[in-house]
Amino acid sequence: MSPLSDQISQLRTFFMNELRSTSSSKELEDLKVKYLGRKGLIQSLMVELKNAPVDQRPHLGKLINDLKEELISHWDHTLLRLKEEETLNAFAKERIDATLPGRRPFLGRSHPLAQMLEKIVDILIGMGFSVQLGPDVDSDYYNFEGLNFAPDHPARDMQDTFYLGGDLLLRTHTSNVQVHAMENFEPPLRIVAPGRAFRNEDISSRSHVFFHQIEGFYIDKDVSFADLFATMDEFLSKLLGEKVQTRFRPSYFPFVEPGVEVDVRCTACKGEGCRICKRTGWLEVLGAGMIHPKVLQKGKIDPEVYSGYAWGMGIERLAMLQMGVSDIRSFTQNDLRFLSQFP
Ligand code: PHE
Repeated sequence: MSPLSDQISQLRTFFMNELRSTSSSKELEDLKVKYLGRKGLIQSLMVELKNAPVDQRPHLGKLINDLKEELISHWDHTLLRLKEEETLNAFAKERIDATLPGRRPFLGRSHPLAQMLEKIVDILIGMGFSVQLGPDVDSDYYNFEGLNFAPDHPARDMQDTFYLGGDLLLRTHTSNVQVHAMENFEPPLRIVAPGRAFRNEDISSRSHVFFHQIEGFYIDKDVSFADLFATMDEFLSKLLGEKVQTRFRPSYFPFVEPGVEVDVRCTACKGEGCRICKRTGWLEVLGAGMIHPKVLQKGKIDPEVYSGYAWGMGIERLAMLQMGVSDIRSFTQNDLRFLSQFP
């Protein structure tokens, strides 16, 4: 074998060794310059060729050219492999782990008060009532005058009512829906009106400037006080459990006559007396009564022909009791640690 053909096969060995230990595309570029460049090792073999015996030159020249092709092909393959590795490494640096389980998207849920309202409305729909919503911003007439509040009634006081200027105010109770309904529909009326009410009171763990109420009323021929009692008993037992005990106490609201307040046996202590029921064994849950004839009259309903009952209840206190919430402010603070406790 001629020294040149030795050199040719040596060069192959050297190249393959160096190629194997190349670990970046940058190093690979350097390798290309060293072997295949214009002043590279292949080229210097070509220069050597001139010193070879004339009869061997064609053969040796072909060997060099074949070697060059071979190196280029190895080099190309290695470049592809290294590029692929580098891309994967870049991903790894981004800390993408394709085997990690996906993140569960955050699931919203309805607010505990919305859940409570929904439960109550569902029960009443089942008892034949239909839902009407009234405006939060209303006039004095719908919130007070149409409900037989005397012009000097203390509830109209600036201390209780948020006046918005002109004749407008934030409703202090959902009873305004009674007035709107009597104006818009003919009896028989069997309506529930869930919604927000506002009172200008000090905010504490027990009371807030806005809260929720549900109003219910039924106007028809021959509606009696006994119907009111029976409906409240049925409604409260559906809401609080069959065994709930009710108690009706006389009370005063300008828009009902007679008026009552309805208590239930404390669900926390079963009537033993505890902190929640202030040791009385009873919890006041709603105000009710027979709709005052003057209110029917203002609503263009003849009190000689029709009668009706109405009741209104606060939602927050009931929700606090049923859901074990001790501070009414929790409902409006939008703290997910609180809200997510009510699936
Ligand atoms: N509107 C009264 C309140 O907010 C509750 C009530 C409604 C009482 C209907 C009697 C009849 O306290």
